[in-house]
Amino acid sequence: MIHQLESLLVVDVDDRQLILDTAHGVPVIAHFGESLGLTAAADLAATGTRPIPKGALDSEAPASICPEQGSGWQGLPGITGQRPDGSGWAPRFRPHNIEVSAERACITACDHEADLELTTVLCVLPASVRIHVQLHNLGRSSYHLDSVMLTLPVPGDVGEIERMTGRWSHEFQRRRSEIPDGALRFDNRRGRTSADRVPAIFAGTPGFSENSGRVWGAVLGWSGNANVSVERLTDGRCVIQMGELLASGDVCLAPGESYTSPELEIAYSADGLNGVSQALHRSIRSGPVHPGTEVPRPVVLNTWEAVYFDHDLTVLSALADAASDVGVERFVLDDGWFHGRRSDNAGLGDWWVDPAVWPDGLQPLISHVRSLGMEFGIWVEPEMVNPDSDLYRSHPDWALQAEGYESVLGRNQLVLDLGRPEVFQYLFSHLDALLRDHDVSYVKWDMNRDLVAASCDGRASMHAHMHGVYRLIDALRAEHPRIEIESCSSGGSRADFEILKRTERIWASDSNDALERQRIQDGFSLLFPPEVMGAHVGPPASHTSGRQGSLDFRCATAFMGHFGIEWNLLDASPQDRSRLASVVALHKEHRELLHGGTVWRLDVDRSREIAHLVAAPDRSEAMLSYAQLTLSRGSVPPIVRLFGLNPDVRYRFEALPLPNVPEGPAVTQPGWLVEGGEASGRVLMNYGLQLPLLHPESALVVHLREH
Ligand code: GLA
Repeated sequence: MIHQLESLLVVDVDDRQLILDTAHGVPVIAHFGESLGLTAAADLAATGTRPIPKGALDSEAPASICPEQGSGWQGLPGITGQRPDGSGWAPRFRPHNIEVSAERACITACDHEADLELTTVLCVLPASVRIHVQLHNLGRSSYHLDSVMLTLPVPGDVGEIERMTGRWSHEFQRRRSEIPDGALRFDNRRGRTSADRVPAIFAGTPGFSENSGRVWGAVLGWSGNANVSVERLTDGRCVIQMGELLASGDVCLAPGESYTSPELEIAYSADGLNGVSQALHRSIRSGPVHPGTEVPRPVVLNTWEAVYFDHDLTVLSALADAASDVGVERFVLDDGWFHGRRSDNAGLGDWWVDPAVWPDGLQPLISHVRSLGMEFGIWVEPEMVNPDSDLYRSHPDWALQAEGYESVLGRNQLVLDLGRPEVFQYLFSHLDALLRDHDVSYVKWDMNRDLVAASCDGRASMHAHMHGVYRLIDALRAEHPRIEIESCSSGGSRADFEILKRTERIWASDSNDALERQRIQDGFSLLFPPEVMGAHVGPPASHTSGRQGSLDFRCATAFMGHFGIEWNLLDASPQDRSRLASVVALHKEHRELLHGGTVWRLDVDRSREIAHLVAAPDRSEAMLSYAQLTLSRGSVPPIVRLFGLNPDVRYRFEALPLPNVPEGPAVTQPGWLVEGGEASGRVLMNYGLQLPLLHPESALVVHLREH
């Protein structure tokens, strides 16, 4: 809910408040935190006017949404660019127009010297806010845009940040650091969201934890290159800034043209990281294609780790039988089905079924899968082309590569230029035909290489390409509204808020190693709710790490997300298959809670243990996951305080048989582990629950239900 108070816009966001000062032109986030109950705009000036120290400029440039170097801002400028004659490089905007509705505000500011107009758009979400800007070229010459940085000021007592980094099969690794005097920059130049420079920052008061400290979160909704910066200025102000990282010449606005920035989502919590994550989860849950809980998330079997490129109708039909026997509801045929695709050397771009492997097409397999009552899904990687493909042989100019230079290959492939209408049309028609001609309800949309030096007719084309990708997915969804899409990029390298506007699931990592996965999933939960997290039980030996994991640990780990299997069940023992079937049944029993509940990460020693809880919206039940990664610090693990329960009701709690109550190195375990236990929510939250002794690399899932 937004209302105007003189030059302020007061934005109520759940129980928090954002105050936008529009007096200067480009609006300034003057406050984002607890509700201030302001009755006069002057109250803010009375308490918040900053002194001007000696040696400083005589007036202080505001930390606006796009701070102006021309006004004296000495941090990272909000807008950089210029006209061919060099003018317009330091624009300064003046107020022009404000339009406000209950959930949205548009604030336009103009610079008549630089002939630019900047509109800031703010949208209110259930517990967070999204902001983007539009820069409009009002002049008679082109405007070469270099960067647009969206800015969230945070109070000066913010001392630490948390972010996510990683690499292939090791995504979403949480990292803490102090904010130094000066700037921390995490620029991503991989042409995809990336595993190492996730465009998200959590900044908080020193020592903030899962459940304590004031924390601000900022997340850029963008799947391409990004600038991310956290800066403490000499004058004590601290800002988080993010924007699309434009290549030189990527965006050149002709007279009358506009650039629209990605959206920056911001959230605040007075009670630690969980409050910010919960706000972000709520916004994803209110998104246009979020699956919701009305239709349960189907249990998946993906064929990748079962057969890789070795496609054979008889084997895959037998795998479908085995999948159906353990309770799988969606069978996904991964890479290897299309023309010339016998390995990762060839075939990308030729999106028709390979008659050499599938002489009767995919129909026999699809019919078999459907006859078993399962949905059929299929893997594609539309943005790519292998030089060894019919497509590349006929259209080498369709790939994004710099003419005159040797191409830089990744996984033996190049990226197609989706900024070109003919490429868009080619991909649309082939994918449309694939979905039209086959009974396919699910698409795993992959993107398996970094995009470098993306050039079209000699010019940078990263920006146009990324928008082309979004347009292609949107066009296919419009044509096939019932299709569900999973976003994959060598695992979790395309996990962001913009892709989630058009995909229902994210493949969090190619690692199905439960030990690695526990950390990956913990980091993933900072941004995304569990129902969008693909989590599969792999074979006993992980293909990415070689580590052996027990079936119990693998199952307990996948259990907390959107559950699936990625294992050749034909190699699994009858005992393992029947244990897996019991886990699938348990997941189905509890998935409404797991996929619709509120996530509370618990404050444990994350170098050794990871614990979180998912509580039902009405708090009548909850699922606790506790993973022992290595030995605990003490010989007995700690009592852990639970969150998200109703203090006034009694809960019965018991470990789920996944498939057995784990045996630990204990003489005696807490009684509740064997017989179940009972306590009030108040005791469980304020005193806590004694964790049992578990061997390293094992996990326990505990169900709590109102009694
Ligand atoms: C990527 C994905 C995997 C699998 C392969 C297929 O690596 O992350 O899950 O789909 O491609 O080539």
